[in-house]
Amino acid sequence: MTLPGEAFVMPTYARYPVTLVRGEGMRVVDDEGRAYLDFVGGLGALSLGHCHPRWVEAVERAARTIGLTSNLFATPPQAELAERLSALLPIPEARIFFCNSGTEATEALLKLIRKRGLPRGKGVVVVLEGSFHGRTVAALAATGQPAKRAPFEPLVDWFRYVAPNDEEALAGAFASGDVAAVFLEPVMGEGGVIPLDLDYLHTVRALCDEHDALFTVDEVQAGTGRCGDWLSVSAAGVVPDAATIAKALGGGLPIGALVARPELSFAPGEHASTFGGGPVPASAALSVLDTIEQDALLGNVIAMGDLLRAQVTRLAPSGTIGEVRGRGLLCGVDVAPGLALADVVAGLRERGVLVSTAGAATVRFTPPFTVGADDVRTAATALADTLAEVAR
Ligand SMILES: Cc1ncc(COP(=O)(O)O)c(C=O)c1O
Repeated sequence: MTLPGEAFVMPTYARYPVTLVRGEGMRVVDDEGRAYLDFVGGLGALSLGHCHPRWVEAVERAARTIGLTSNLFATPPQAELAERLSALLPIPEARIFFCNSGTEATEALLKLIRKRGLPRGKGVVVVLEGSFHGRTVAALAATGQPAKRAPFEPLVDWFRYVAPNDEEALAGAFASGDVAAVFLEPVMGEGGVIPLDLDYLHTVRALCDEHDALFTVDEVQAGTGRCGDWLSVSAAGVVPDAATIAKALGGGLPIGALVARPELSFAPGEHASTFGGGPVPASAALSVLDTIEQDALLGNVIAMGDLLRAQVTRLAPSGTIGEVRGRGLLCGVDVAPGLALADVVAGLRERGVLVSTAGAATVRFTPPFTVGADDVRTAATALADTLAEVAR
């Protein structure tokens, strides 16, 4: 049912024709009482599923304990979260800046990069074609999708765009000696769920070292466990100088973070956020980290991601899909040319499975880390049935 108030919401999203009113775990219910399996999972943010009891308890307790203190005052949840993240993430002795979203984490990182680079005569940030880093002015400029940038240009001109996985192009981008950093998604999400080659990530690290540039990663979608590691770049065994995380960290509440080597910090007054890392979202994030660890969810992420890709590959009718990509529970399935992506998404919805899309031809699955094998099998079967119908 379309709600009357919807007319007053700016139409920044081409919304699916469903109004969701309730959720528990993997399941959501619409305003007509229909149940769905939620493989969108708040576009990757809902790491523990809907209304996980430990998350609800942490949020309720925090909301009853203290309100917002602004960042003029320290609070126990934020301090504990910073210490935990510094210990969990592979960047040694990392320092954390808390914000409220992935986009804000991008902005903070870009300022940090420029702060270090400009005194060295280096202002350029190398980014990848097809990347996505957010919708604010600098984050949009960093995004390697010209159609998204075009209506708002000129944006900031700090960026040099190179093709993903192209080592020669990357080396060429360093030739003019002005590169302050490389900034990339180790598993590109919005661009179509494309894991970068692990060798390529090694080359990025080596070139950055050679040219005194920072290797920085956008882990907003792929990090915080979504791909089975706290940072997805760890699959390559390389350590970045700084990373951004958000989405899965808050388990549904808005929190993002810039995580950087200790010498890459801001001084007082150089950056700020009224809400960033407040007691409620920081407590939510702590409950997410606790639950991931206590319930060994990173293992489940790997097992369920592998199962989903295997089941889809096995069940999809011949000729209806292209590549099946991803790592852990960031999973993309290309539909074959000629099949309408929107029809596949709608067909899945009619079968009670909610998914999103990425790029022009990719069905994307980003379920909670708690998803079980039965639900994964149900989704893969629903996709196969939908593909058979759409191909008819
Ligand atoms: C890789 C990446 N970076 C940044 C963002 C922006 O995050 P947010 O929507 O939380 O601002 C996203 C959102 O999809 C993303 O996938």
